[in-house]
Amino acid sequence: MIGRLNHIAIAVTDLDAAVRIYRDTLGAKVSAPLDLPEHGVTTVFVELPNTKIELIRPLGEASPIKAFLERNSSGGIHHVCYEVEDIRAARDQLKAAGARVLGSGEPSIGAHGKPVLFLHPKDFVGTLVELEER
Ligand code: CO
Repeated sequence: MIGRLNHIAIAVTDLDAAVRIYRDTLGAKVSAPLDLPEHGVTTVFVELPNTKIELIRPLGEASPIKAFLERNSSGGIHHVCYEVEDIRAARDQLKAAGARVLGSGEPSIGAHGKPVLFLHPKDFVGTLVELEER
């Protein structure tokens, strides 16, 4: 069912410092910051030859990554994103297998303008999983 690794998301408290590490220290190509108010984050994409790193910083009081950063004050890996062909078919198959889909269970539009869903970390060996339709 799952295809390519689309990105790994790293939650950060200081986005400018994270950009400097990836752009200046590691020499990666880094996008401009993009606010996603409906997801409660500001994102910067780091382009690597085979995948992307998504640096995410809380946006707004109700940001879903706020609690994560309270537990991980220096930041940390927040989720992995896998591509799927058909996100609703993948969701239905995973739900039938007992996995929990977060939120309403309906896909929302993610940072790349494509439908995304999140799966409960307790059902995926402790890792929050994002699915993105290809
Ligand atoms: Co993501």
